Amino acid sequence: MDHMRLAVIPGDGIGTEVVDQGLAALEAALAGSGTVVETTQLDLGARRWHATGDTLTDADLATIREHDAILLGAIGDPSVPSGVLERGLLLRLRFELDHYVNLRPGRLYPGVRSPLAEPGDVDFVVVREGTEGPYVGNGGSIRRGTAHEVANEVSVNTAFGVERVVRDAFARAAARPRRHLTLVHKHNVLVHAGDLWRRTVEAVNAEFPDVTTDYLHVDAATIFMVTKPSRFDVIVTDNLFGDILTDLAGAVVGGIGLAASGNINPDRTAPSMFEPVHGSAPDIAGQGKADPTATILSVALMLEHLGRPEAAARVEQAVAADLAARGDRARSTAQVGAEIAERIRG
Ligand code: IPM
Ligand code: MN
Repeated sequence: MDHMRLAVIPGDGIGTEVVDQGLAALEAALAGSGTVVETTQLDLGARRWHATGDTLTDADLATIREHDAILLGAIGDPSVPSGVLERGLLLRLRFELDHYVNLRPGRLYPGVRSPLAEPGDVDFVVVREGTEGPYVGNGGSIRRGTAHEVANEVSVNTAFGVERVVRDAFARAAARPRRHLTLVHKHNVLVHAGDLWRRTVEAVNAEFPDVTTDYLHVDAATIFMVTKPSRFDVIVTDNLFGDILTDLAGAVVGGIGLAASGNINPDRTAPSMFEPVHGSAPDIAGQGKADPTATILSVALMLEHLGRPEAAARVEQAVAADLAARGDRARSTAQVGAEIAERIRG
Protein backbone atom coordinates (compact mmCIF):
# COMPACT_ATOMS: atom_id res chain seq x y z
CA MET A 1 0.00 0.00 0.00
CA ASP A 2 1.43 3.36 -0.86
CA HIS A 3 0.75 6.78 0.51
CA MET A 4 0.00 10.15 -1.01
CA ARG A 5 0.80 12.97 1.38
CA LEU A 6 -1.26 16.01 0.57
CA ALA A 7 -0.96 19.45 2.17
CA VAL A 8 -4.39 21.08 2.06
CA ILE A 9 -4.78 24.85 2.21
CA PRO A 10 -8.51 25.65 2.05
CA GLY A 11 -7.77 29.36 2.57
CA ASP A 12 -10.52 31.95 2.48
CA GLY A 13 -14.10 32.41 1.30
CA ILE A 14 -15.31 29.64 -0.96
CA GLY A 15 -11.89 27.96 -0.69
CA THR A 16 -13.03 25.55 2.02
CA GLU A 17 -16.19 24.61 0.13
CA VAL A 18 -14.48 23.80 -3.16
CA VAL A 19 -11.53 22.03 -1.54
CA ASP A 20 -13.89 19.62 0.25
CA GLN A 21 -15.25 18.57 -3.12
CA GLY A 22 -11.77 18.35 -4.63
CA LEU A 23 -10.82 15.93 -1.85
CA ALA A 24 -13.99 13.90 -2.42
CA ALA A 25 -13.03 13.57 -6.09
CA LEU A 26 -9.52 12.51 -5.13
CA GLU A 27 -10.84 9.84 -2.76
CA ALA A 28 -13.12 8.54 -5.50
CA ALA A 29 -10.33 8.51 -8.07
CA LEU A 30 -8.03 6.48 -5.83
CA ALA A 31 -10.66 4.14 -4.36
CA GLY A 32 -9.50 0.58 -4.74
CA SER A 33 -6.07 1.63 -6.02
CA GLY A 34 -4.31 0.74 -2.79
CA THR A 35 -3.13 4.33 -2.40
CA VAL A 36 -3.95 5.95 0.90
CA VAL A 37 -4.29 9.73 0.91
CA GLU A 38 -2.93 11.38 4.05
CA THR A 39 -3.94 15.02 4.33
CA THR A 40 -2.50 17.77 6.49
CA GLN A 41 -4.78 20.78 6.79
CA LEU A 42 -2.95 24.08 7.10
CA ASP A 43 -4.61 27.07 8.69
CA LEU A 44 -3.43 29.80 6.35
CA GLY A 45 -5.22 32.87 5.07
CA ALA A 46 -7.25 35.71 6.54
CA ARG A 47 -8.26 33.97 9.80
CA ARG A 48 -4.68 33.10 10.70
CA TRP A 49 -3.40 36.55 9.77
CA HIS A 50 -5.98 38.27 11.96
CA ALA A 51 -5.23 35.90 14.85
CA THR A 52 -1.42 35.87 14.69
CA GLY A 53 -0.19 38.31 12.06
CA ASP A 54 1.39 35.40 10.16
CA THR A 55 0.90 34.85 6.45
CA LEU A 56 3.26 31.89 5.96
CA THR A 57 5.97 31.06 8.46
CA ASP A 58 9.17 29.12 7.86
CA ALA A 59 7.69 26.35 10.00
CA ASP A 60 4.58 26.22 7.76
CA LEU A 61 6.83 25.98 4.74
CA ALA A 62 8.88 23.20 6.29
CA THR A 63 5.69 21.24 7.00
CA ILE A 64 4.44 21.78 3.46
CA ARG A 65 7.72 20.57 2.00
CA GLU A 66 7.14 17.16 3.60
CA HIS A 67 4.22 16.52 1.25
CA ASP A 68 3.88 15.17 -2.26
CA ALA A 69 1.61 17.99 -3.40
CA ILE A 70 -0.53 20.88 -2.22
CA LEU A 71 -4.22 21.46 -2.87
CA LEU A 72 -5.19 25.10 -2.39
CA GLY A 73 -8.70 26.58 -2.41
CA ALA A 74 -8.50 30.37 -2.58
CA ILE A 75 -6.73 33.19 -0.80
CA GLY A 76 -7.97 36.70 -0.08
CA ASP A 77 -10.49 38.53 2.04
CA PRO A 78 -11.73 42.12 2.03
CA SER A 79 -10.78 42.46 5.70
CA VAL A 80 -7.08 42.07 4.85
CA PRO A 81 -5.24 44.89 3.06
CA SER A 82 -4.68 44.19 -0.63
CA GLY A 83 -1.41 42.42 -1.31
CA VAL A 84 -0.74 41.08 2.19
CA LEU A 85 -2.00 37.54 1.61
CA GLU A 86 -1.28 37.60 -2.11
CA ARG A 87 2.39 38.37 -1.60
CA GLY A 88 2.94 36.90 1.86
CA LEU A 89 1.17 33.62 1.23
CA LEU A 90 0.30 32.73 -2.37
CA LEU A 91 3.29 34.25 -4.15
CA ARG A 92 5.61 33.20 -1.36
CA LEU A 93 4.50 29.59 -1.86
CA ARG A 94 5.03 29.83 -5.62
CA PHE A 95 8.46 31.41 -5.22
CA GLU A 96 9.80 29.34 -2.31
CA LEU A 97 8.66 26.07 -3.86
CA ASP A 98 9.96 27.14 -7.27
CA HIS A 99 6.68 26.75 -9.13
CA TYR A 100 8.11 28.09 -12.34
CA VAL A 101 5.47 26.50 -14.56
CA ASN A 102 1.99 27.87 -13.95
CA LEU A 103 -0.06 25.52 -16.10
CA ARG A 104 -3.51 26.69 -17.13
CA PRO A 105 -5.45 24.60 -19.64
CA GLY A 106 -8.18 26.25 -21.71
CA ARG A 107 -10.53 23.60 -23.01
CA LEU A 108 -14.12 24.09 -24.11
CA TYR A 109 -15.93 20.92 -23.03
CA PRO A 110 -18.93 19.65 -25.00
CA GLY A 111 -22.14 21.05 -23.55
CA VAL A 112 -20.46 24.10 -22.04
CA ARG A 113 -21.68 27.42 -23.33
CA SER A 114 -18.97 29.86 -24.36
CA PRO A 115 -19.86 33.56 -24.56
CA LEU A 116 -18.52 33.38 -28.12
CA ALA A 117 -21.08 32.66 -30.85
CA GLU A 118 -18.79 30.29 -32.73
CA PRO A 119 -15.88 29.35 -30.51
CA GLY A 120 -14.85 26.30 -32.56
CA ASP A 121 -12.76 23.51 -31.10
CA VAL A 122 -10.90 25.11 -28.20
CA ASP A 123 -8.19 23.08 -26.49
CA PHE A 124 -5.01 24.89 -25.54
CA VAL A 125 -2.77 25.20 -22.54
CA VAL A 126 -1.09 28.32 -21.21
CA VAL A 127 2.36 27.86 -19.71
CA ARG A 128 2.62 30.97 -17.58
CA GLU A 129 6.00 31.66 -15.99
CA GLY A 130 5.46 31.56 -12.23
CA THR A 131 8.47 32.92 -10.39
CA GLU A 132 9.64 36.06 -12.21
CA GLY A 133 8.32 39.09 -14.08
CA PRO A 134 6.83 42.02 -12.18
CA TYR A 135 5.62 39.56 -9.52
CA VAL A 136 9.09 39.46 -7.97
CA GLY A 137 8.32 42.67 -6.07
CA ASN A 138 11.60 44.27 -6.95
CA GLY A 139 10.11 47.75 -7.23
CA GLY A 140 9.64 50.71 -4.99
CA SER A 141 8.43 54.24 -4.66
CA ILE A 142 9.96 57.50 -3.53
CA ARG A 143 8.33 60.74 -2.43
CA ARG A 144 5.14 58.80 -1.81
CA GLY A 145 2.02 60.94 -1.54
CA THR A 146 3.68 64.00 -3.04
CA ALA A 147 3.24 65.47 -6.49
CA HIS A 148 6.72 64.13 -7.26
CA GLU A 149 6.01 60.54 -6.37
CA VAL A 150 7.88 57.97 -8.45
CA ALA A 151 6.51 54.43 -8.36
CA ASN A 152 8.37 51.60 -10.11
CA GLU A 153 7.59 47.95 -10.59
CA VAL A 154 10.51 46.05 -12.07
CA SER A 155 9.92 43.04 -14.30
CA VAL A 156 12.64 40.50 -13.63
CA ASN A 157 13.43 38.16 -16.52
CA THR A 158 16.49 35.96 -16.16
CA ALA A 159 18.03 33.86 -18.91
CA PHE A 160 17.83 30.88 -16.54
CA GLY A 161 14.19 31.49 -15.64
CA VAL A 162 13.02 32.13 -19.18
CA GLU A 163 14.89 29.17 -20.63
CA ARG A 164 13.54 26.62 -18.18
CA VAL A 165 9.91 27.62 -18.67
CA VAL A 166 10.29 27.84 -22.45
CA ARG A 167 11.84 24.35 -22.51
CA ASP A 168 8.95 22.99 -20.45
CA ALA A 169 6.46 24.60 -22.85
CA PHE A 170 8.22 23.09 -25.86
CA ALA A 171 8.16 19.65 -24.23
CA ARG A 172 4.42 19.99 -23.62
CA ALA A 173 3.86 21.13 -27.21
CA ALA A 174 5.92 18.22 -28.55
CA ALA A 175 3.63 15.79 -26.68
CA ARG A 176 0.42 17.24 -28.13
CA PRO A 177 -1.06 16.37 -31.52
CA ARG A 178 -0.72 19.83 -33.06
CA ARG A 179 2.80 20.50 -31.75
CA HIS A 180 2.50 24.25 -31.89
CA LEU A 181 3.88 26.87 -29.54
CA THR A 182 2.91 30.54 -29.44
CA LEU A 183 5.09 33.02 -27.61
CA VAL A 184 3.05 35.90 -26.22
CA HIS A 185 4.93 39.05 -25.20
CA LYS A 186 5.24 42.70 -26.17
CA HIS A 187 8.69 42.98 -27.67
CA ASN A 188 7.85 46.12 -29.61
CA VAL A 189 7.71 48.00 -26.29
CA LEU A 190 9.37 45.77 -23.68
CA VAL A 191 12.42 45.43 -25.86
CA HIS A 192 14.88 43.97 -23.37
CA ALA A 193 12.71 41.27 -21.85
CA GLY A 194 10.92 40.68 -25.15
CA ASP A 195 14.19 40.11 -26.92
CA LEU A 196 15.33 37.63 -24.28
CA TRP A 197 12.08 35.65 -24.61
CA ARG A 198 12.25 35.71 -28.42
CA ARG A 199 15.88 34.58 -28.60
CA THR A 200 15.21 31.88 -26.04
CA VAL A 201 12.27 30.44 -27.99
CA GLU A 202 14.38 30.43 -31.12
CA ALA A 203 17.29 28.68 -29.40
CA VAL A 204 15.23 26.03 -27.60
CA ASN A 205 13.26 25.35 -30.80
CA ALA A 206 16.42 23.65 -32.11
CA GLU A 207 15.90 20.93 -29.49
CA PHE A 208 12.28 20.46 -30.62
CA PRO A 209 12.40 20.62 -34.43
CA ASP A 210 8.91 19.04 -34.70
CA VAL A 211 7.30 21.96 -32.89
CA THR A 212 6.17 24.92 -34.99
CA THR A 213 6.18 28.34 -33.37
CA ASP A 214 4.67 31.75 -33.84
CA TYR A 215 4.63 35.00 -31.96
CA LEU A 216 1.87 37.37 -30.85
CA HIS A 217 2.02 40.64 -29.02
CA VAL A 218 -0.15 40.30 -25.94
CA ASP A 219 -2.70 42.84 -27.15
CA ALA A 220 -3.15 40.94 -30.41
CA ALA A 221 -3.32 37.68 -28.44
CA THR A 222 -6.38 38.98 -26.59
CA ILE A 223 -8.09 39.62 -29.94
CA PHE A 224 -7.38 36.08 -31.16
CA MET A 225 -8.46 34.67 -27.80
CA VAL A 226 -11.90 36.07 -28.60
CA THR A 227 -12.05 35.82 -32.42
CA LYS A 228 -10.30 32.47 -32.91
CA PRO A 229 -9.30 30.69 -29.69
CA SER A 230 -9.05 27.43 -31.63
CA ARG A 231 -5.80 28.70 -33.18
CA PHE A 232 -3.92 28.16 -29.91
CA ASP A 233 -2.18 24.97 -28.84
CA VAL A 234 0.50 25.81 -26.27
CA ILE A 235 1.04 29.42 -25.24
CA VAL A 236 4.16 30.41 -23.33
CA THR A 237 4.29 33.80 -21.69
CA ASP A 238 5.52 35.75 -18.71
CA ASN A 239 3.92 35.91 -15.29
CA LEU A 240 1.78 39.03 -15.74
CA PHE A 241 0.68 38.48 -19.34
CA GLY A 242 -0.17 34.91 -18.35
CA ASP A 243 -2.26 36.11 -15.43
CA ILE A 244 -4.35 38.36 -17.63
CA LEU A 245 -4.61 36.02 -20.59
CA THR A 246 -5.77 33.07 -18.47
CA ASP A 247 -8.66 35.01 -16.94
CA LEU A 248 -9.77 35.85 -20.46
CA ALA A 249 -9.22 32.25 -21.52
CA GLY A 250 -11.30 31.07 -18.56
CA ALA A 251 -14.18 33.30 -19.63
CA VAL A 252 -13.97 32.05 -23.22
CA VAL A 253 -14.16 28.37 -22.24
CA GLY A 254 -17.20 28.70 -20.03
CA GLY A 255 -16.30 30.77 -17.02
CA ILE A 256 -13.78 31.01 -14.26
CA GLY A 257 -15.71 28.36 -12.29
CA LEU A 258 -14.22 25.77 -14.62
CA ALA A 259 -10.63 27.04 -14.88
CA ALA A 260 -8.03 24.76 -13.28
CA SER A 261 -4.36 25.38 -12.65
CA GLY A 262 -1.17 23.74 -11.52
CA ASN A 263 1.77 25.59 -10.01
CA ILE A 264 4.38 23.10 -11.02
CA ASN A 265 7.95 22.52 -10.00
CA PRO A 266 9.00 20.28 -12.91
CA ASP A 267 12.33 19.45 -11.24
CA ARG A 268 10.44 18.06 -8.24
CA THR A 269 12.70 19.75 -5.72
CA ALA A 270 9.53 20.76 -3.81
CA PRO A 271 5.83 19.88 -3.91
CA SER A 272 3.73 21.34 -6.70
CA MET A 273 0.50 23.15 -5.90
CA PHE A 274 -2.88 22.81 -7.55
CA GLU A 275 -5.60 25.43 -7.31
CA PRO A 276 -8.61 26.80 -9.16
CA VAL A 277 -7.83 30.01 -11.07
CA HIS A 278 -10.74 31.78 -9.37
CA GLY A 279 -10.49 33.69 -6.11
CA SER A 280 -12.20 33.43 -2.72
CA ALA A 281 -15.48 35.05 -3.92
CA PRO A 282 -16.45 36.56 -0.53
CA ASP A 283 -19.81 37.63 -2.00
CA ILE A 284 -21.02 34.02 -2.26
CA ALA A 285 -18.92 32.40 0.48
CA GLY A 286 -20.70 30.11 2.89
CA GLN A 287 -23.78 29.75 0.72
CA GLY A 288 -22.93 26.47 -0.96
CA LYS A 289 -23.19 28.12 -4.37
CA ALA A 290 -19.60 27.95 -5.59
CA ASP A 291 -18.84 25.67 -8.51
CA PRO A 292 -16.23 23.12 -7.36
CA THR A 293 -15.45 22.04 -10.94
CA ALA A 294 -12.26 24.10 -11.29
CA THR A 295 -10.89 22.54 -8.10
CA ILE A 296 -11.83 19.04 -9.23
CA LEU A 297 -10.10 19.62 -12.58
CA SER A 298 -7.09 20.89 -10.62
CA VAL A 299 -7.10 17.55 -8.79
CA ALA A 300 -6.89 15.86 -12.21
CA LEU A 301 -3.81 17.97 -13.01
CA MET A 302 -2.36 16.92 -9.65
CA LEU A 303 -2.94 13.22 -10.31
CA GLU A 304 -1.27 13.60 -13.70
CA HIS A 305 1.72 15.32 -12.10
CA LEU A 306 1.97 12.61 -9.45
CA GLY A 307 2.18 9.90 -12.09
CA ARG A 308 -1.44 8.71 -11.96
CA PRO A 309 -2.59 9.34 -15.53
CA GLU A 310 -5.46 6.80 -15.39
CA ALA A 311 -6.89 8.32 -12.23
CA ALA A 312 -6.46 11.79 -13.76
CA ALA A 313 -8.31 10.72 -16.89
CA ARG A 314 -11.16 9.27 -14.83
CA VAL A 315 -11.58 12.58 -13.02
CA GLU A 316 -11.49 14.57 -16.25
CA GLN A 317 -13.94 12.22 -17.97
CA ALA A 318 -16.32 12.43 -15.01
CA VAL A 319 -16.19 16.23 -15.15
CA ALA A 320 -16.74 16.16 -18.92
CA ALA A 321 -19.78 13.89 -18.46
CA ASP A 322 -21.14 16.13 -15.71
CA LEU A 323 -20.66 19.23 -17.87
CA ALA A 324 -22.37 17.58 -20.84
CA ALA A 325 -25.41 16.74 -18.68
CA ARG A 326 -25.37 19.91 -16.63
CA GLY A 327 -27.72 22.25 -18.51
CA ASP A 328 -29.12 24.98 -16.30
CA ARG A 329 -29.87 22.80 -13.28
CA ALA A 330 -29.22 24.65 -10.03
CA ARG A 331 -27.10 22.49 -7.74
CA SER A 332 -25.20 23.21 -4.56
CA THR A 333 -21.41 22.92 -4.32
CA ALA A 334 -21.83 19.65 -2.44
CA GLN A 335 -24.30 18.25 -5.00
CA VAL A 336 -21.99 18.97 -7.93
CA GLY A 337 -19.09 17.43 -6.01
CA ALA A 338 -21.07 14.34 -5.01
CA GLU A 339 -22.38 13.75 -8.53
CA ILE A 340 -18.91 14.06 -10.04
CA ALA A 341 -17.44 11.77 -7.37
CA GLU A 342 -20.17 9.24 -8.18
CA ARG A 343 -19.24 9.35 -11.86
CA ILE A 344 -15.56 8.91 -10.99
CA ARG A 345 -16.38 5.74 -9.03
CA GLY A 346 -18.26 4.60 -12.13
C1 IPM B 1 -3.98 34.08 -9.96
C2 IPM B 1 -4.26 35.25 -9.07
C3 IPM B 1 -2.96 35.66 -8.38
C4 IPM B 1 -1.96 36.02 -9.47
C5 IPM B 1 -3.11 36.80 -7.35
C6 IPM B 1 -4.15 36.49 -6.32
C7 IPM B 1 -1.79 37.15 -6.72
O1 IPM B 1 -4.81 36.31 -9.79
O2 IPM B 1 -3.62 33.01 -9.45
O3 IPM B 1 -4.13 34.21 -11.18
O4 IPM B 1 -1.95 37.17 -9.93
O5 IPM B 1 -1.19 35.15 -9.86
MN1 MN C 1 -5.15 35.85 -11.88
